[in-house]
Amino acid sequence: MPSEQPQYLYKYRQVPGIDDIDVYLKHEGYNAVRKALTMDQEAIINEVKLSGLRGRGGAGFPTFIKWNGIPKNWDKPHYLVVNADEGEPGTAKDRDLMNALPHLLVEGCIISCWAIRSKACYIYIRGEYIQPARQIQKAIDQAYAKGFLGKNILGSGFDLDMYVHMGAGAYECGEESALMSSLMGERGMPRHKPPSAPLPVISGVWDSPTIVNNVETIATAVPIINMGGAEYAKVGTGTPGAGPASRGTKLITLSGHVKKPGNYEIVLGTPVREIIYEIGGGIKNDKKLKFFIPGGSSTPLLPPEFLDTPYDYEALGKTGSLLGSGALIVYDETVSVPALMTRLMHFYAHESCGKCTPCREGTNWLVKIHDRIMAGGGRPEDIDLLLDISNNIFGRSFCALGDAAAMPLAGFFAGKGAIYYFREEYEELIRNGAGGKKRAFAPLQMAGV
Ligand SMILES: Cc1cc2nc3c(=O)[nH]c(=O)nc-3n(C[C@H](O)[C@H](O)[C@H](O)COP(=O)(O)O)c2cc1C
Repeated sequence: MPSEQPQYLYKYRQVPGIDDIDVYLKHEGYNAVRKALTMDQEAIINEVKLSGLRGRGGAGFPTFIKWNGIPKNWDKPHYLVVNADEGEPGTAKDRDLMNALPHLLVEGCIISCWAIRSKACYIYIRGEYIQPARQIQKAIDQAYAKGFLGKNILGSGFDLDMYVHMGAGAYECGEESALMSSLMGERGMPRHKPPSAPLPVISGVWDSPTIVNNVETIATAVPIINMGGAEYAKVGTGTPGAGPASRGTKLITLSGHVKKPGNYEIVLGTPVREIIYEIGGGIKNDKKLKFFIPGGSSTPLLPPEFLDTPYDYEALGKTGSLLGSGALIVYDETVSVPALMTRLMHFYAHESCGKCTPCREGTNWLVKIHDRIMAGGGRPEDIDLLLDISNNIFGRSFCALGDAAAMPLAGFFAGKGAIYYFREEYEELIRNGAGGKKRAFAPLQMAGV
């Protein structure tokens, strides 16, 4: 049950008025900032290393490695950019954190900026997130008024300014290089990745060293500093310091055909079955589970035989899917897989920025063939054509948006995606045309989250 899981980020989530600084201050608010400002940069990064924290935006990259990459003794300014674009369908945990606990993010930003010696922090919030942006702006204003932001924070000599920057609502702008371009007023298109270009930690916004981290990653700096990295790492899977591990807790967005959809904080490694049937209360109307998408709409779906998979980076990776952004979407037996995939392909084709051919053209072909199958004009060879197109997008697009479209259908490199598990549904539709067995159209279910 959620209440039995340690709550590091959501500890005070239920306290009325916790989004106000006076209430927040009565609940350990800004204690981590006070503590961090007495520590040197290396000591903070070491706590983050001990915590085993991996980026919560999707890729799971170790946070301390990024932070350590900021050049020492350069006279260029350093920047922290918080990725609050949250474009992955099914994902709403950053929205929830910013709405309910805006000071947790502001506090995390102050600690992170101190750790990477940054005097300016930008929160890049997706255009649709008007209320979260208001909440963050209010929290920033309150933090300035209490001396947690601005000049000489708490007499430490450290100066920091924080800005909210609203995007215009493009999935691509969540990709970190596109996000930085958008922040600088350019088109939100991705840039070259190393080795052909320097890493953002060396040359990011305005050609200066930049850290881009997800909202949840940055907020997690607060419990890590408050409790110490080693204590934070006591829960989770794998052994800290001995190879890849999934330590600590994770915010997840549980949606779809569950009785209790919502945003929850779970310990990494909690079995998917427990999340769906205990935390989520089981399948709505007591229908049968058909499949689940573990980490947001770009992660390959998994059928019920994977219910006992621990919800962590390694175990979900071994299934051929991913933990991704932590959006667990649940589908019951009424759902049509080709109809869901049609909906998804439309999304990715619409959101492709058009910079590279595999993604721009490939996603459109995936749409056209799906539309044809759904309209009753599918051809037997269409299924292998879909796989072929997906495999020609995967790994060949300029950024991972192309992969995000290909993976739900075909998995990684001809691996296990929707067509592998539910090929017969495509075959049936093609055989019987639009008169085939009718299943409900399946938009991404977000109700109640
Ligand atoms: C198309 C695309 C969209 C993305 N959207 C987001 C997003 O909305 N939020 C996010 O934190 N990361 C997103 N990412 C991942 C970021 O590029 C980056 O890896 C992440 O912000 C790093 O932060 P982290 O290390 O704290 O996870 C996206 C990546 C791609 C390819």
